[in-house]
Amino acid sequence: MTRKVRKAVLPVAGLGTRFLPATKAVPKEMLPIVDRPLIDYAVAEGRAAGIETFIFVTNQRNEPTLRAHFDMVATLEAELAAKDPALVRRLRDGEPPKGSIHCVPQGQPLGLGHAVGCARDLVGDEPFAVILPDDLMDAAPPALAQMVAVHERTGGNVVAVEEVPRELTRRYGVLDIGADDGIMAEVKGLVEKPEPEKAPSTLTVIGRYVLLPEVFEHIAKAERGAGGEIQLTDAMAKMIGRAPFHGLRCGGRRFDCGSRIGFVEAQVGFGLKDPDMRDRLMQFLRASGSEWE
Ligand code: G1P
Repeated sequence: MTRKVRKAVLPVAGLGTRFLPATKAVPKEMLPIVDRPLIDYAVAEGRAAGIETFIFVTNQRNEPTLRAHFDMVATLEAELAAKDPALVRRLRDGEPPKGSIHCVPQGQPLGLGHAVGCARDLVGDEPFAVILPDDLMDAAPPALAQMVAVHERTGGNVVAVEEVPRELTRRYGVLDIGADDGIMAEVKGLVEKPEPEKAPSTLTVIGRYVLLPEVFEHIAKAERGAGGEIQLTDAMAKMIGRAPFHGLRCGGRRFDCGSRIGFVEAQVGFGLKDPDMRDRLMQFLRASGSEWE
């Protein structure tokens, strides 16, 4: 019997330098895609996968804003209720239950592996998810729910993966793969940000993970890897061969909201999914397209 995946770690300590000056006072995860901050999409995906506890690994500056966003604000609710009860429903929509959000500071920005390691005490000895809110996923069923289902079958580690053009491998964790049925691939090796000519494949890790708690021991012992950082990829690589480990192609679309172009694509992609704005936005895009041709 595998243990239920109940907790998710969300590293949100980055400074969002690519989005300056928007991120001077506003944490990157609070930037909206249409009308919801990025962090809400991550939490909604977690809840759809059965996650009950969300652990944000924060920097000191962004923690108060994140906490404020997830706290019920009684005065705001009362004000909105007097105006229009539908607004209160919007405010509460997707809000995680009280007590489900926890914050832990990262202290020093030493890399993704280090950030995940900061959540060790709060996760304890059970399998858990990692969600990188910058990677906005639009898949049905939601990506993390698919991964949890695989974990329940295999009892092992699962990472979400997608193919990228070879020249882009230096931006990602890259898999060396064994048996592959086109959806699920056995992980034989993992390398962080290899140069294209050294990459073992073009199948790359995107920001969703279901990991066994043993990863914390490997993070604790990890040396600095690519970019001088403590890499989650290196700690995960140590678990290969000791427990089942799979890459899962979750289908749907992934928007890299850590980049400016991915962020704008996400606005358009999610705008087009909204029935209230779809037609108008489509018209606008068509007209803009012909204007620039
Ligand atoms: C991180 C991981 C990398 C993964 C990527 C997905 O890199 O280290 O393995 O492929 O997220 O978005 P970062 O984007 O933080 O450089």
